[in-house]
Amino acid sequence: MSVFLCNLSDLVEDKWMTFAAADGDEDDTYMVKKQGENIFVYRNFCPHQGRRLDYAPGEYLETPDKQVVCPAHGATFQTEDGFCTAGPCAGDALRAVTTEIKDNQVFIDVD
Ligand code: FES
Repeated sequence: MSVFLCNLSDLVEDKWMTFAAADGDEDDTYMVKKQGENIFVYRNFCPHQGRRLDYAPGEYLETPDKQVVCPAHGATFQTEDGFCTAGPCAGDALRAVTTEIKDNQVFIDVD
């Protein structure tokens, strides 16, 4: 099922942001980053112990080379594929979400 997540105009270039799906659970949020023509969307859920990746709503830590850092135990994840490069879940990955852009709106596939 495809549901609305956000407008393209809501996104800030090269900044992780947090959104809840329109008809989803408020606690089930998604982390979104726009880089040029690319939109990266992952579940806001660390594969280590399931903590949110934002330390406050919409606020993320990043390494100098722009990997997002889990605030709980410091796992680091690449933007382009969500791969965990270091930390307690190294080798695992954020769960990517299938995304479609229609009429300047971002839709995601949810189960
Ligand atoms: S919950 Fe993210 S590193 Fe432990």
